[in-house]
Amino acid sequence: MACLFRRSIAAQLSRILGTPTEKLIPMVSAVPVSKKQQTLDFRVSVNSLLADDCLKSGSNVQSRAKTLSEQLTCDDVVTEIAVGQGTINFKVNRSLLAEVVMQAISKKGSKYGIDSELFRGYPCGRVIVEFSSPNIAKKFHAGHLRSTIIGNFIANLKQALGNDVIRINYLGDWGMQFGLLGAGFQLFGSEVKLKTNPLQHLFDVYVEVNKMAENSEDIQKAAQVFFKKLEGGDEQTLSMWEQFRSISIEEYEKIYQRLGVHFDDYSGESMYQEKAQEVLCLLDQKGLLKKTKQGTGVVDLSPNGDLSVYAKIVRCDGTSLYLTRDVAAAIDRMKKYDFDQMIYVTDKEQCTHFQQLFEVLKIMGYNWTERCQHVPFGLVKGMKTRKGDVVFLEDVLNEARLRMLQNMAASKTTKELEDPEDTAEKVGVAALIIQDFKGPLLSDYEFDWDRVLQSQGDTGVFLQYTHARLCSLQRTCEDDLQTQFNPAYLQDPQAIALLQHLLRYDEVLHQVSEDLQPKHLVNYLVMLSRLASIAHRTLHVKGNLPQRATARFLLFKGTSSVLASGMKLLGITPVEKM
Ligand code: ARG
Repeated sequence: MACLFRRSIAAQLSRILGTPTEKLIPMVSAVPVSKKQQTLDFRVSVNSLLADDCLKSGSNVQSRAKTLSEQLTCDDVVTEIAVGQGTINFKVNRSLLAEVVMQAISKKGSKYGIDSELFRGYPCGRVIVEFSSPNIAKKFHAGHLRSTIIGNFIANLKQALGNDVIRINYLGDWGMQFGLLGAGFQLFGSEVKLKTNPLQHLFDVYVEVNKMAENSEDIQKAAQVFFKKLEGGDEQTLSMWEQFRSISIEEYEKIYQRLGVHFDDYSGESMYQEKAQEVLCLLDQKGLLKKTKQGTGVVDLSPNGDLSVYAKIVRCDGTSLYLTRDVAAAIDRMKKYDFDQMIYVTDKEQCTHFQQLFEVLKIMGYNWTERCQHVPFGLVKGMKTRKGDVVFLEDVLNEARLRMLQNMAASKTTKELEDPEDTAEKVGVAALIIQDFKGPLLSDYEFDWDRVLQSQGDTGVFLQYTHARLCSLQRTCEDDLQTQFNPAYLQDPQAIALLQHLLRYDEVLHQVSEDLQPKHLVNYLVMLSRLASIAHRTLHVKGNLPQRATARFLLFKGTSSVLASGMKLLGITPVEKM
């Protein structure tokens, strides 16, 4: 992989600057490939050398770059040195480039890009990722879908980097909504419907009873009675709630499976009713629980202790809040898992909530609070299906599959498939994911089915299509290849561009691991697909000299392997035919 090149360039710099090679290695980076012009392979920015004190400051950057470049010499690895804009650029031996990249991909397989010196010293440990976390009987809105795919991506990434990852789904499975749901179910619930279409039925009951409760004190009372019984641990009530919960989880699991998502633990707010009371006692003991005039309990978060900023932690009637339960849950997870990092994935409207959560934990004296992180994301506007507003995740997946099936049926290039529905589903999911991961996570975006499912441009369909095409090439050519790989046959500009791009994979993964923004990887894979299509059009495999055919074949094979592993990290299942 790029290691050999980076090391060799860093060693040259080290000789001149006296800085240890190891320190210089991360400053050598592969140059992003441009479709318009050929580029050199690596660069070192003079500013980064200055910032790290490898270079004494003095005359201007450009002349420093020039002086430094004049002291460097070409060797077996580096064949050209040039001064760029504030950088020194390096071209490496072309035959070595092809050999090193191809060998690394075939040797490292799915570890290519991760098994890299850039990740040396990367701290590994136990990481909790909490994501998806829908509310039973309520809508599964676009925010829950975003949390699901973003959380899954973060969990995949952390796992690939060698962490022990625990995926938690923290359900909204408690609160007054269950009072209403229970009261409603007693009035017009149907055991049959609960068996055949549970999520829909619970949602319908909930909507209906909410409507009725608006003008009926009886219903409101019944709901309160139901919830009181539930909190009091009444057996019959509890078993009804349990049934709602477990049936809902069963349904969720089926749908998560379609998305390729799984959880290690279905937790939920219900588990922290009692523990929240313990948190209140603890806060009280520590003298941190303040009473307001209105009778609520709060924790003072103001810098001067004047209650100008506070977090509400208990209601007047002594019941706990969303925040209280989260405090209890965090403490419990620390006890249970002894995590090194915990990541919560929700929309940005919960930023204040998590800020307060972390501040309360810190004030309580938990020094592990800094291991907790909230990854917020922006809102999706206008996600609708033909049935109307999105109520269930299943509707979105069905719509994506249906539309994709229609597009595939209308396309001339579509292959005969064993299970078109399954392919349409995988391509549809890829489309949803790429649309969502294209921009910065914090940005809002407008949802548009036609744009999501376009076959060209930066879409999931394009990635899947490219992957399928590369796989089909492998299927048709595999038998013809008998010769050894010879790097001399990968010297066309289209091949060099692909190799240069493949060289950058570890840097991109490193960047993603730092800021957890999937867009870097999406951009990378889209560019990889573009370069692969160009190469595919020009660098024919069939009917060529055996050695040339083999070299090209292996280049496409390596490309499809990197494309596939990048897609899998994002949560996409690559298709081999479409
Ligand atoms: N169920 C919540 C909602 O739908 C999200 C839970 C997020 N996680 C947490 N620990 N508070 O808004």
